[in-house]
Amino acid sequence: MDLMEYQAKELFARYGVPVTLGRVIEDPADAELAAAELGGRVVVKAQVKTGGRGKAGGVKLATSPEDAVGKAFEILGMDIKGHTVHRVLLALAADIAEEYYFSYLIDRAQRSYLCIASTEGGVEIEEVAHTNPDAIAKIPIDPAVGVDEAKAAEIVAAVGFPAGAEDVVRRLYDVFISEDASLVEVNPLVKLADGSLEALDGKVTLDENASYRHADHAGFEDKAAADPLEAAAQEKGLNYVKLDGSVGIIGNGAGLVMSTLDVVAYAGEPYGVKPANFLDIGGGASAEVMANGLGIILGDTQVRSVFVNVFGGITACDAVSNGIVQALALLGDQADKPLVVRLDGNNVDEGRRILAQANHPLVTVVDTMDGAAARAAQLAAQN
Ligand SMILES: Nc1ncnc2c1ncn2[C@@H]1O[C@H](COP(=O)(O)OP(=O)(O)OP(=O)(O)O)[C@@H](O)[C@H]1O
Ligand SMILES: [Mg+2]
Repeated sequence: MDLMEYQAKELFARYGVPVTLGRVIEDPADAELAAAELGGRVVVKAQVKTGGRGKAGGVKLATSPEDAVGKAFEILGMDIKGHTVHRVLLALAADIAEEYYFSYLIDRAQRSYLCIASTEGGVEIEEVAHTNPDAIAKIPIDPAVGVDEAKAAEIVAAVGFPAGAEDVVRRLYDVFISEDASLVEVNPLVKLADGSLEALDGKVTLDENASYRHADHAGFEDKAAADPLEAAAQEKGLNYVKLDGSVGIIGNGAGLVMSTLDVVAYAGEPYGVKPANFLDIGGGASAEVMANGLGIILGDTQVRSVFVNVFGGITACDAVSNGIVQALALLGDQADKPLVVRLDGNNVDEGRRILAQANHPLVTVVDTMDGAAARAAQLAAQN
């Protein structure tokens, strides 16, 4: 999960990284009071989960509280690389002497952590990497040792940071480790006119696999930005991604679902029909999981047909068939789109027998994956 700048800076503050928090507002009318309370001269900053906000016109200096209203009005509602700005941060304008780049990330190839930093910050680091690669320091970090006093000194020396930067370097590492982040990036980390350092921007990616260790991380989720179906699926613990087409897809196992998307896209091409979602119900396809999955898919108004593609493994086909029959009973009138079911693998004959016996008017059983994909695509095109 990526955090917005103001959320990243809230985290930084908890670890004693110097930041100025400022105020987050959603209505330009609130900018005047907020700016006045902050001291008048503020920078109005779009809060969206994408880079290059400044270049897109999403970061603007306001010289007075009235000016802040105008700037907030300009930025709120703006589209930055497909992200609508719903919130702006008003941050006290800092007296900047120098801008640096600083980050911790996971170096998967080396199975360790990596610090990438430069005294040429503020601008896009990719650009510096291109025009002046020597200005960027890359310091590997042994995860078993971390950033101790010696490592912090090594980083500060390698980058060419001012003396005393060790403290910020260590605190940011604390954020990275303690919060189970896969990225902590500060661009710019600034030296202020008085010589002290401050994180003026922040980008943090939290590892969702560790969210069970961080009850507070759920509070960072941007419920407004998430798709309502994806949010509902997440609540039910389903692995669901909404797509743009009209054939709902359910499968067991991520690999099978991926290839199902491919065959449906191929079979649907003549009709302009595409998959409506990715949904992996995993190994234990119980009636409840099946009902939850079908419920989510049928809640998508774009869906015209559903393709249930199951390969019986540990959970045998008969259990899956019972799951489908019970799910349809649970859903009742909510189930109103044709279902094409393809079963194979463990105990397939019994699975097919159960579906044949149930003889549900919405269900068609097709024996092959290609055949089932073609049928589901046809049904979506007709409906
Ligand atoms: N509080 C502030 N006071 C003074 N200048 C600021 C302040 N915040 C940002 N700036 C200036 O604006 C520039 C861009 O700000 P920031 O890094 O937050 O956005 P960005 O880099 O455009 O966005 P992104 O990091 O998403 O690409 C900074 O490099 C800095 O020069
Ligand atoms: Mg930045």
